[in-house]
Amino acid sequence: MSEFQTVANVNDIPEGQGRCFPVNGTMVGVFLHQGEYFAINDFCPHMGASLSESPIAEDGSVMCSWHAWCFSIKDGTWLDNSKSGIKTPTYDVRLQGNEIQVAVPLPDPPAAKGSASTDEESSGEPS
Ligand code: FES
Repeated sequence: MSEFQTVANVNDIPEGQGRCFPVNGTMVGVFLHQGEYFAINDFCPHMGASLSESPIAEDGSVMCSWHAWCFSIKDGTWLDNSKSGIKTPTYDVRLQGNEIQVAVPLPDPPAAKGSASTDEESSGEPS
């Protein structure tokens, strides 16, 4: 489950632009397009450029500044080849007064190494 966190004030993101904010260890690009806020993972799935540095096109897409891949800020789809299944994650956005809030899940904890326990560890008996 993700909780909404305030990342910015409404005056911090001009219409037609994006800004990047760290949330729960993820860099999130938050965009204002035609009066509506959108949030996507800011790292381009190709090679990691920041997508929030690019202006928003009329159709709600951003073109990565490194190699010109285009992504929808609405659903994260890679628009150059929408059948590829390549997407950048999207996140819920809401306004609370003048605050822009996004909900980003915490990353999964690392898998435990050597998941088998010894009898000593699993017995529950004090040693
Ligand atoms: S890093 Fe974005 S298109 Fe290459």
